[in-house]
Amino acid sequence: MSMAPLRHLLVTGGAGFIGSAFVRQRLAAEPDLRITVLDKLTYAGSLENLAEITDSRRLAFIQGDICDRAAVDRAAKDVDAIVNFAAESHVDRSLLEAGEFVQTDVYGTHVLLEAARRYQHRRFLQVSTDEVYGHVASGRSAEADRLEPRSPYSATKAGAEMLVHAYRQSFAVPTLVTRGSNTYGPYQFPEKIISLFITNALQDLPLPIYGDGSAVRDYLYVDDHVDAIATVLNNGEPGSVYNVGAGAEVSGVTVADTVLEFCGKPASLKQFVKDRPGHDYRYALDVERIRPLGWESRVSFRDGMRLTVDWYKKHDAWWRRRKEADFWKYYRRNYQGLPSGAIPQ
Ligand code: NAD
Ligand code: DAU
Repeated sequence: MSMAPLRHLLVTGGAGFIGSAFVRQRLAAEPDLRITVLDKLTYAGSLENLAEITDSRRLAFIQGDICDRAAVDRAAKDVDAIVNFAAESHVDRSLLEAGEFVQTDVYGTHVLLEAARRYQHRRFLQVSTDEVYGHVASGRSAEADRLEPRSPYSATKAGAEMLVHAYRQSFAVPTLVTRGSNTYGPYQFPEKIISLFITNALQDLPLPIYGDGSAVRDYLYVDDHVDAIATVLNNGEPGSVYNVGAGAEVSGVTVADTVLEFCGKPASLKQFVKDRPGHDYRYALDVERIRPLGWESRVSFRDGMRLTVDWYKKHDAWWRRRKEADFWKYYRRNYQGLPSGAIPQ
């Protein structure tokens, strides 16, 4: 028997890249749905990402931290389900300073699970990542495979998953976990490879490719990712984990070449730089488990890249506001040894 529709969701991290895409898509797709967003508005989150939503009666926004039990209680008491996107999400930042990752990604998830337990929510969905499997030399990761995270970021995401599992086992919280692959599209903060490379190309700045650029990722267009999360939320089996990937294994060099092609910029902008420490060279997912729920990715890598480049070209002010002093401070620290022309003066 299928579940009665969820009417009111708490979406944590709903002002970030994927969370805001989820909010936009679900409010458009489900006319009776209400969403409350709880978001701390870190450097990665912004109300600008939700500004396209005009039906304000169905969207409430609370600025707050998922680690703050009182704020979570207020936001969670009237909802049917929590969808947890809130996290520190950038691997390179976790290699520079991991404390906030442990706090938000692990402790924050615990606070949300406590609320789901206390208010007897009908679903708790944890948005996790394919990075929890670690580097995959051959074959594809299935949901029952060992978790072998290798960066501080992926270790905190794996830690959060362990808590989700424990709350399912100990307290029968109706949990779900999605392990999505590398996601790209509009509104992505310009620090991840695709959004960084597009905006650097538009600024005629070098595209810093780690190592020899042979590391591959399974790039997933953001609309496909949020569609999968909604599918699992509404039709997934409580207690289960679902891989979400497009099957598009693309190297760093191919990302750079595709960006330069669609931006109409020269190959001379490619710049090979020092490799990421502990770089996972490959992730690859087996997505057989989610298929019977009726989900598959629809947007090919090249189509998604075209849409994304077009969006960044049209939203110049949005990304320029994010590439200001604090951003370049982080950039200098992360990409040490870049020539002077690689950073705007
Ligand atoms: P993002 O960094 O763009 O957004 C994160 C959001 O969480 C921001 O709005 C931020 O303000 C908010 N946030 C951070 N700390 C918070 C806290 N303590 N309390 C409340 N809000 C807080 O991240 P994203 O790329 O949209 O990723 C969203 C989720 O999806 C994350 O959990 C991430 O691990 C997961 N994920 C991301 C990808 C990807 O490729 N981007 C792929 C798979 C899974
Ligand atoms: O796979 C899911 C994960 O994808 C999510 O869980 C993370 O939140 C998200 O940030 C992303 O992590 P990655 O490490 O895969 O993404 P990133 O864009 O940082 O790097 C993708 C690849 O590109 C990786 O092989 C490193 C390389 N890279 C990255 C940057 C930022 C470069 O070559 N140069 C760069 O400047």
